[in-house]
Amino acid sequence: MSPLISLTWRDHITGREGYLVVDRLVRGVSSGGLRMREGCSLEEVTGLARGMTMKEALHFNDDPSARYIPLGGAKGGIDCDPRDPAAYGILVRYLRAVRPYIETVWTTGEDLGLTQDLIDRAAAEAGLVSTIQAIHPLLDDEEAARRRLADAFAVDVDGIGLDELAGGCGVAEAALTALDRAGVAYEGTRVAVQGLGTMGGATARFLLRAGLTIVAVADVKGTISCPEGLDVESLLAARDAFGTVDRAVLRPGDRELPGDAWLSADAEILVPAAVSYAIDTANQARIRARWIVEAANMPVLAEAEELLAARGITVLPDIVVNSGTNAWWWWTLFGDIGPDADEALAHTRRSMRALTELMLERAEAGGTTPRAAAHAIAAARLPLIAERFGHYH
Ligand SMILES: NC(=O)c1ccc[n+]([C@@H]2O[C@H](COP(=O)([O-])OP(=O)(O)OC[C@H]3O[C@@H](n4cnc5c(N)ncnc54)[C@H](O)[C@@H]3O)[C@@H](O)[C@H]2O)c1
Repeated sequence: MSPLISLTWRDHITGREGYLVVDRLVRGVSSGGLRMREGCSLEEVTGLARGMTMKEALHFNDDPSARYIPLGGAKGGIDCDPRDPAAYGILVRYLRAVRPYIETVWTTGEDLGLTQDLIDRAAAEAGLVSTIQAIHPLLDDEEAARRRLADAFAVDVDGIGLDELAGGCGVAEAALTALDRAGVAYEGTRVAVQGLGTMGGATARFLLRAGLTIVAVADVKGTISCPEGLDVESLLAARDAFGTVDRAVLRPGDRELPGDAWLSADAEILVPAAVSYAIDTANQARIRARWIVEAANMPVLAEAEELLAARGITVLPDIVVNSGTNAWWWWTLFGDIGPDADEALAHTRRSMRALTELMLERAEAGGTTPRAAAHAIAAARLPLIAERFGHYH
C-alpha cells in the first residue's frame, strides 16, 4: 500500500533535501521521529514510516484500562550531516516548510542525529507550539497532559533524561526476554553495541545493570573494546551532543579498533543502535553472536537476515525492540503512567516483555523468524484499528 503523504522538500539556500512520509493516519493523526543524516533518502524514510505504523499497531491491545490508543505511522528525514554548521538553519527551514503537517497530522520527535532539545528549539523558531500539537485535540485534558509530559521530560536518572532512557530500557528488556526463553544466564553474557547515542547508550546502561558485560561499543569515530568489560558509565558521561565519546576517558586496557570491529566482537548479543543498513550480505559473515537486537531502525538488510537465520543467528526486529520510546511518549501523554522514572520504566519493561514473548512464541510455533511473527501480529491488528477508529488511508 502506498503512503498517504510523501513529499520531498528542497532547501532554497543549500539545495539539501528533506522528506516527510505519512504512511497512514489513525483518528486523523500519525507519529514518527525526525532524523538527520548524510545520505538519508525518500526510500529510507518511506520504510521507516511503514515501520512506525507497525510499531503503533503492536502496542494496540484490548485492555479496556489502556488510555493510549495507537496512531498512524510517519517519519521525517533530512539529508545532511548533523554536525554540518548549516544543519541547524536547514532544520528550521524544513520545519517551517512542513509546519502545516505538524500542526494537523504529524506528531514528531527526536531520532538519529537530532536531540529533542534541538528539535524543540528549531520548532519554536519555525513558529510551532509543539512537535506533537496535532494530537492535542485528542486529549481529554490538554493542559494536564502537556504538563505531565513536560514533567516526565524533566526527570533525570543518574545523569540521563528519562526520555532518553525509555527506549533503551525497552531494547534491553527485549534482549533479556530472549535470554530468559533460551535459559541463558545474564552473568557472563557479552554485548557489542554500534552507536552510543540515545538508544545505544541507554541500552548499554540497562544491560550492564542487569549483569551483562559490554565488551565493545562503536561510535562515528570507531570501536572501543575491552573483553573484560568497558566502564560504560564513564563512556556515557564523556559523550558530546552527537553521541561521540571523548577518547581521553579510555582506560589503559581499552582498545581502539576500526569502526566495523563491533560486528565481529566476541559477544553473544549485538545491538546495532546507529544507522540503517549496517548489516548486509557481505559483512554478516563476520558475525559470531547468537542474537542481533535491532535498537536502530532497519539496521539488517532482508537478504542478510536470511543468511543469518540459516546460520542460527536470531534477529529481534526493530518494530518490536525499539518501540518503547514512541510508546513511552503516548503512555505519558495519555496518562497510562505518570512523570516518574520507576513507574515509567516498570511499565516499559512489562509491556516490552509481553510483546517480545508474544512474538517469540508465535515465531517458534509457526517456524518463522521473529520479524515475520511481529509483522503477522501487526497485520492482524491493523484492520481492527481501522474498524474501530475509521479508515484514513
Ligand atoms: N532516539 C529515539 O528516540 C529512537 C527511537 C527508536 C529508534 N531509534 C533509532 O535508533 C537509531 C539511533 O538513534 P539515536 O537517536 O540513538 O541516535 P543518536 O544520534 O543519539 O546516536 C547515534 C550514535 O550512533 C553513532 N554513529 C553514527 N553513525 C555511525 C556509524 N556509521 N558507525 C558507528 N556509529 C555511528 C554516533 O556516533 C552516536 O553514538 C536510529 O536508527 C533511530 O532511528 C531512535
